Amino acid sequence: MVSSQDLTLEEKAQLLSGKDFWTTKNIDRVDVPSIMLTDGPHGLRKQAGSSDNLGINESVPATCFPPAVALGSAFDPDLAERVGQALGVEAAIEDVSVLLGPGVNIKRSPLCGRNFEYFSEDPYHAGTVAAGLVQGIQSQNVGACLKHFAANNQEEDRMRVSADVDDRPLREIYFRAFERVVKEAEPWTVMCSYNKINGTYASEHSWLLTDVLREAWGFDGMVVSDWGAVHDRVAGVKAGMDLEMPSSDGITDAQVLDAVHAGRLEATLVDRSAQRVLNLIERSGRRVKPSGPLDVEAHHRIAREAATRSAVLLKNDGQTLPLKDGQSIALIGEFARTPRFQGGGSSHINPTRVDTALDTFCEKVGEQVDFAPGFTFDGKGSEALRTEAVELARTKDVAVVFLGLPDAAESEGFDRTTLDIPADQLELLNEVVAANPRTVVVVSNGGVVALPFADSVPAIVEGWLLGQAGGSALVDILTGEAAPSGRLGETIPYRLEDTPAFGNFPGEFGHVRYGEGIHVGYRWYDKRNFEVAFPFGHGLAYTNFEYGSPTVSVNDHDDVEIRVRVTNTGQRSGREVVQVYVGPENSAVDRAPRELKAFVSVEIAAGESRDVALTIDRANLAYWDIRVDRFVVEGGTYRVEVGASSRDIRGEATVELNGDEVRLPLTAQSSLAEILAHPTAGPKMREHLISFLGSTADGDASGEQDMESLIGSLPVGRLVSFGVPKEQVKQLISLAQQ
Ligand code: BGC
Repeated sequence: MVSSQDLTLEEKAQLLSGKDFWTTKNIDRVDVPSIMLTDGPHGLRKQAGSSDNLGINESVPATCFPPAVALGSAFDPDLAERVGQALGVEAAIEDVSVLLGPGVNIKRSPLCGRNFEYFSEDPYHAGTVAAGLVQGIQSQNVGACLKHFAANNQEEDRMRVSADVDDRPLREIYFRAFERVVKEAEPWTVMCSYNKINGTYASEHSWLLTDVLREAWGFDGMVVSDWGAVHDRVAGVKAGMDLEMPSSDGITDAQVLDAVHAGRLEATLVDRSAQRVLNLIERSGRRVKPSGPLDVEAHHRIAREAATRSAVLLKNDGQTLPLKDGQSIALIGEFARTPRFQGGGSSHINPTRVDTALDTFCEKVGEQVDFAPGFTFDGKGSEALRTEAVELARTKDVAVVFLGLPDAAESEGFDRTTLDIPADQLELLNEVVAANPRTVVVVSNGGVVALPFADSVPAIVEGWLLGQAGGSALVDILTGEAAPSGRLGETIPYRLEDTPAFGNFPGEFGHVRYGEGIHVGYRWYDKRNFEVAFPFGHGLAYTNFEYGSPTVSVNDHDDVEIRVRVTNTGQRSGREVVQVYVGPENSAVDRAPRELKAFVSVEIAAGESRDVALTIDRANLAYWDIRVDRFVVEGGTYRVEVGASSRDIRGEATVELNGDEVRLPLTAQSSLAEILAHPTAGPKMREHLISFLGSTADGDASGEQDMESLIGSLPVGRLVSFGVPKEQVKQLISLAQQ
């Protein structure tokens, strides 16, 4: 294996930036080949011709699997792993060494234009599903690229904005999914984000890329820049940003060399990054190119299965769904004929084929279905289109209306400004419902949309962007050939004004303040007791599940084990996503009422029961303690809630946990209460205080308590101001420090 020691300084510097848009430089003298890194998270975007990072130019045909917004909703890391394997196979066939995904940024605001590429508003959920995907991709000896590290939660001003985030939300919300994937799945590469974090560009953030990512989490792969994220290359090398992409035409290579020659950059740091690039090239050299062409049909089937698992049945009054045999159907909405199944930008791929709901309905139920587009995507729909659709609805047993956001409404590169779907679609729906109350709505959208019609229609399917097989998958669900089993990875709020980042998104003058702190997503709505349209974790099946009482215990590793019996009490087999939420009864810090800490998707046949076992590793219950700069598990009672969504808790239990020890150095600035709470200094201090302050020397416990609450907040050093002689205060301080 070639090591950086075999290279000249010039050659090492060359390795630190791309050869062109998608490949690294080859160094022929020592037989180092060039390798390709390319998008993307839910399908391969290998551009054979002109290159761009905005999904503009055509790429080779590839299977478009469900984007993260959908795959996340399946709440199933095993399914994600299978999709990952298929992605890995497609990348390997095309000789791609690193697939640029998945993205695990948290959905901070529903307006982020790129939410379709992200899994969740919850870091445990996002990290768990993404870890499965990474394991699948890498099982084929293709590297994954975990992105965009970090705090890249909006598109507005994304290449400059500073995400101003406090330590707790950064650690507990925005880093945690990255941390989980790094530790569990060991991605070969991590992509730094475009934005700044607390004033420093991610691409030159030494604390982020070295202290946290490598030293604290143990990442040993290569860091690549987002495309064009480099601001100061020399600072980037110092920080541990190994490979700049795309090519800088040699400009930054020369800057690196100059900096070494001028003594501004240590040559060992160039070695370090060059070695990481070499390691990646060596690793990808072990890949055996799969024989034969892509099995388009087999991968399409995986895409279809994943899509059926990802759609979420939000509402189903009166068992409107599945559609009944022989029912005549008015299929309405342009999306049924021209599905929206992926988002715009760098993840936009060229699918091997596209299923439409219209074609699939026609294949399955033939003459029972008639179609009317009802509107056009550009909003220039005519009165005639609407009338035709309404009249069709009037004559059929059931209307199935496909609504959604057109391509132009959301994409990488910009954020939405509203949660609304286009007004002409809502007007059409109103008229359809008036003509036929038995109306099912299917929505296609990458970020959540408001559903103002939720009370006026009996059934709603959240169809996200489901990939190339979304059209057929939705029909599988509507007709009952497949059972719906997706759950929301994102709360559907009533109003934009209710959302956590409202007023703090997308920021101003180059800064976005994460003012909601740790209360992101359902944490926010629960903390504030806000009503929501559909809560995080919600999703229905065509059957019902009953939960037994959960039992909760702490095992030898101090992890929490939960067992619960779940019974399918309906007539059809189905999948339940059993979710476990935890919250401490008392906490020294602000906490969310409940946080998702475990989940599992289980298939249960009609009438059967399954004993479900879940484990929460202790570390997952910690909060970030800013006093000691580390995660701390508090001792005490924790409420463990088991349920079918964050607001459909079916059983609960409590568990006692021992706390991690937190020793704070006691100083003159320590308050009397802090010193009194200290296990060894406390009792001594109490004794001395009583003798100094005298008043409760008679041992009256309630008097002591009063005294403590009265003066507890006093820093011990300040006792001087209250007449305690300096010498005695010094004595107290040294006592506290013993
Ligand atoms: C995106 C990345 C993508 C890269 C390469 C950038 O614009 O932010 O997610 O991988 O382009 O296409």
